[in-house]
Amino acid sequence: MDLRVLVMISGRGSNMRSLISNARNYSISAVLSNKPEAAGLEHARGAGIQTYAFASGEHGSVKAMKRAIWEKVGELAPDLIALAGFMLILDQDFVDRWYGKIINIHPSLLPELPGLGTHRRAIEAGHAAHGCSVHYVDGGVDTGPIIAQARLATAAGESEEDLAGRVLALEHRLYPWAVANIAAGFVWLEGRDVKYSREAVSSAKSEGFEIFGG
Ligand code: GRF
Repeated sequence: MDLRVLVMISGRGSNMRSLISNARNYSISAVLSNKPEAAGLEHARGAGIQTYAFASGEHGSVKAMKRAIWEKVGELAPDLIALAGFMLILDQDFVDRWYGKIINIHPSLLPELPGLGTHRRAIEAGHAAHGCSVHYVDGGVDTGPIIAQARLATAAGESEEDLAGRVLALEHRLYPWAVANIAAGFVWLEGRDVKYSREAVSSAKSEGFEIFGG
């Protein structure tokens, strides 16, 4: 049976769309957002996927909204949670509860450039290489065990917008690859070590993705 994946978003949801349209070995069982106006929600509904939207106003505080979100995730009991531009800081008990079953995509070659504004910072720092990472989520900001990365060479004089667009195109390939390989049992976590089957090693190589550990 397909792995049931819950995608959590806050905005445009382009990675969510890529996860939906490239689903292999998994299905998107629900999409949840902490922003009712997130553009990605409408697309998910159009694709016939169950959506859940939360607004801090309705819950009285961000803290109460977070509690409601964590409860809903518990009810949904997904096999995997894929954060895709989800902009709420996760509480430690939530991360602990889902450790090993929650992943994120980040627009930099971690551990370089955690946090926001990665494309501007890559340009300002004169990085010759930039890209994106998919990682398991731990209690830190973009610090969890890295599953895979896709890398590109920055171009001289390239604008932040152009660089962001090129990285996003890589994200749209990398994230479905990672989820499909987890779903197939080809990628898994042991403690803080990411493990890969031979199939994952060879498909990462043919896609041009870098993987970590062994
Ligand atoms: C992506 O760049 C992702 O790496 C980051 O947030 C952005 C979300 O974009 N975590 P989208 O909503 O998937 O289009």
